[in-house]
Amino acid sequence: MLSPSLVAIAFAFCSASLSNAAPPTATPTQAVGKLPALGWNNYNAFGCNVGQTTILAQANQFISLGLKTAGYQYVNIDDCWALRSRDSSGRMVPDSSKWPNGISGLATQIHNLGLKLGIYSDAGTETCSGYPGSLGHEAIDAATFAGWGVDYLKYDNCFVPANWTDAKTPPGGDWYNSNSAIRYRQMTAALDQQSRPIQFNLCIWGQANVWEWGAKVGHSWRMTGDATAAWSFVTTAITSNAPHLSSVNFYSHNDMDMMEIGNGNLTIAEQRTHFAAWAMMKSPILLGTDLTKLSAQSLAIVKNAEILAFHQDPNIGTPAMQFKNSGSPTTSVPEYFAGKSSAGTHVFVINTGGSTSSRTLNFASVPGLGSGTFTVHDMWSGKDIGKFTNSYTFSLGSHDTAALRLK
Ligand SMILES: *[C@@H]1O[C@H](CO)[C@@H](O)[C@H](O)[C@H]1NC(C)=O
Ligand SMILES: *[C@@H]1O[C@H](CO)[C@@H](O)[C@H](O)[C@H]1NC(C)=O
Repeated sequence: MLSPSLVAIAFAFCSASLSNAAPPTATPTQAVGKLPALGWNNYNAFGCNVGQTTILAQANQFISLGLKTAGYQYVNIDDCWALRSRDSSGRMVPDSSKWPNGISGLATQIHNLGLKLGIYSDAGTETCSGYPGSLGHEAIDAATFAGWGVDYLKYDNCFVPANWTDAKTPPGGDWYNSNSAIRYRQMTAALDQQSRPIQFNLCIWGQANVWEWGAKVGHSWRMTGDATAAWSFVTTAITSNAPHLSSVNFYSHNDMDMMEIGNGNLTIAEQRTHFAAWAMMKSPILLGTDLTKLSAQSLAIVKNAEILAFHQDPNIGTPAMQFKNSGSPTTSVPEYFAGKSSAGTHVFVINTGGSTSSRTLNFASVPGLGSGTFTVHDMWSGKDIGKFTNSYTFSLGSHDTAALRLK
């Protein structure tokens, strides 16, 4: 047995070496996460009321609704899956009343459907609902998740201890060296130690200028607080993301949060804008509704093949960017975006106003296009609208988005 003084010396040595250790600089795996994730997460529809029956029912909807064929892949569990305490070896324990076959049993069933499983933890001492957090437990938790067959980790930002809060200015002015970034970097390094590639989502609510360093730490990062099923959230997400789209490319995605299509009172026009905005900005698209109740109209929106092809383009990683359409007034929520895909030049026009109005798209204003005669193609219907010279004038419903390809 060690004498108390030896224990004290050993402890002092240990904590000194820990706090002197340089924070890890491991970068996320490129075995996954090149394109923005497509899938589903339970939180917006089910909150903490989550378990195997619900998750498998939703996974089966991926197959029966044709979502898997359309490219949807990740079935993600949010908060509240664990017991409140770790076991005697320090591992997180799935609540057996929710997961009769454990998370590993569920992962097998999800994988057998040809889908992938996501899980949730937190870069603090507890998750937002008070379950165990992973800060200081990164190695064992990453190994546990990988051992269960998990493919995706959403890593939240609740219960950050006081000594981990950020200084007003991070060391050297670089937010990659902020305490916030380091909390996430510790998990990146732990995930890198696993043989299984895990897509890593930093649920950091747009803090610590995450768009400046997110790609060195994870595959995607949240740009705002939580989504709500309201038009005001859709416009907030668009406004928050528009200035930071130069951060988006392969393996590098601003996350506008889980979808609200099917929830609350979003009109069909608002659902189209919600989907088009997430797709054109190349945010992860994780459906957030009960898929057993999704209407045919909403399903058609989230399965739109041309918009999904823009989002999942294997050759072009950049999103559509805001541009100034000559003759259009400046609006508080940006309305004009354009980008390239393997199929050509795309323009997205949002009507953020409260009534139907007429829009004139000037081809010379579209980056990389120029004036001339173009065939205007409607991505929603998959049909050509016609040939137009120099501009295209059309009527756009309140809160709707025109999704066009010009050729
Ligand atoms: C905060 O305190 C914990 C426990 O002593 C320590 O492990 C950690 O390194 C500290 N964090 C920072 C940023 O100093
Ligand atoms: C949606 O609209 C219905 C009917 O207008 C209303 O009763 C309900 O409270 C609204 N729900 C939300 C979430 O706004």
